[in-house]
Amino acid sequence: MTVRFPVRGGVLGKVKDYFTAVDGVSFTLEQGKILSVVGESGCGKSTLAKSLVGLAPLASGSIKLFGREVQGGRFVHDAHEKGARVCDMVQMVFQDPYSSLNPRQTVEEILTAPLMARKASFSEAHARACELLDRVSIPREALAKFPHEFSGGQRQRLCIARSLMVRPKILLCDEVTSALDVSVQAQILHLLNTLRCDLGLSILFISHDMQVVRALSDDVLVMYFGRVVERGAANDVLVKPQHDYTKRLLESVPTVRR
Ligand SMILES: Nc1ncnc2c1ncn2[C@@H]1O[C@H](COP(=O)(O)OP(=O)(O)OP(=O)(O)O)[C@@H](O)[C@H]1O
Ligand SMILES: [Mg+2]
Repeated sequence: MTVRFPVRGGVLGKVKDYFTAVDGVSFTLEQGKILSVVGESGCGKSTLAKSLVGLAPLASGSIKLFGREVQGGRFVHDAHEKGARVCDMVQMVFQDPYSSLNPRQTVEEILTAPLMARKASFSEAHARACELLDRVSIPREALAKFPHEFSGGQRQRLCIARSLMVRPKILLCDEVTSALDVSVQAQILHLLNTLRCDLGLSILFISHDMQVVRALSDDVLVMYFGRVVERGAANDVLVKPQHDYTKRLLESVPTVRR
């Protein structure tokens, strides 16, 4: 897939040029696997994830989910599922758990909203919210509270719980641990791994933290200026990197020597 953004200029803001943020990238995310996308800031990681759910339009290329083509966040050319939305199957979790939750809504409102919007009954949505709070290890009393009453790590757990309400098959995790303390990071990574095992979720895990990536990934995609420069099993790419850029990324990881 290729994603281009218009570059505007002049007084009238006319389109002067196009900037290619994702340049001919292809990849497969296997069911129940964690694929990490790594690379420096601005290399196109978030754009790649956004294009999967229709938040960044493809200039060329195609996306298939479970063998069915999607465009602009919807399934196309499918007799049974025409126009079905990708967000029923693919959910995104973002870096900042503070801005991702509406401060004026209770946890119950936040969690039940995705199901209520899909015409579920309140009791069904409520039951599912309780089930997911259990899964992310947050007590059910949380339902009556507001986001500001939780720590950063707890809020990220709430974001993850909300993303799971619609029973997605794929989670797109964009720097989900970057805003968190190291000890809390480990808990969130453990949670994601447990969810992958228990629910068979596939996870596209975006990060610039090679240590985090090493701990979690099955496969790794290394991006550089919108292109893939290296890919493969995490054990190969992170242990015996072939490309100079990957080597430099790994060298930038601090190590502890005794
Ligand atoms: N909506 C947009 N309009 C124009 N340019 C954009 C838009 N979104 C992203 N870009 C540009 O595309 C490039 C890739 O951005 P992207 O957010 O995908 O990078 P990233 O790899 O996620 O970086 P980071 O690690 O900092 O999050 C950047 O140069 C960015 O400025
Ligand atoms: Mg990003």
